[in-house]
Amino acid sequence: MKPPLEGELVRLRAPEPEDEPYYYQWINDPEVTYNLLARYPFTHAQELEFIAKPSSYGYVNLTIVTLGDALPIGNATLRNANPENRPADLGIMIGDRAYWDRGYGTDAMRTICRFGFEVMNLHRIELDVFADNARAIKVYERLRFVHEGRKREAHYRRGEYVDVVTMGLLAGELR
Ligand SMILES: CC(C)(COP(=O)(O)OP(=O)(O)OC[C@H]1O[C@@H](n2cnc3c(N)ncnc32)[C@H](O)[C@@H]1OP(=O)(O)O)[C@@H](O)C(=O)NCCC(=O)NCCS
Repeated sequence: MKPPLEGELVRLRAPEPEDEPYYYQWINDPEVTYNLLARYPFTHAQELEFIAKPSSYGYVNLTIVTLGDALPIGNATLRNANPENRPADLGIMIGDRAYWDRGYGTDAMRTICRFGFEVMNLHRIELDVFADNARAIKVYERLRFVHEGRKREAHYRRGEYVDVVTMGLLAGELR
């Protein structure tokens, strides 16, 4: 049986201090952060702190690496799980732009959702995405995330407001 954090193109693993230069590069890349909540520059110390925090039920933090050569290309998180309703908030970033549009994001998303349902026993995974992030929305729809709501002009980004769409996926719906 395939290990729970392994996909077809990527593997997810705990972040290590050696990943820090990659994280620093990704989270300070304006083309990457255009589609993230991140607004201010990040320091090396902040990244090391982010990497050092260990995963637990309410906070799962994973580096996405390529399956072939184990190159770090991004990060995925599941946060705020609770045992009563069993939801979690998902965040994903393929920070290395050379890997966009090559299926890595879809594979990483599928892998972390599978982990959430099969290993953590989540009932529901949700995320927020900017309404104009067509690339991400395509990935989420492909995995069967459902559009659940739209917060109008909820995020101010580089001179204008953008709507924020909430999408959700229930256990058993992942494709
Ligand atoms: C969003 C993200 C995770 C997607 O990962 P990815 O590896 O690029 O995604 P995939 O290659 O699996 O799929 C992207 C799909 O969108 C398509 N696409 C790209 N740009 C598009 C656009 N402007 N409109 C519609 N579809 C688009 C691609 O062609 C591809 O579809 P295909 O597989 O049918 O050809 C990644 O690009 C990323 O991290 N971006 C920066 C941060 C971000 O947006 N994070 C998500 C915040 S909610």
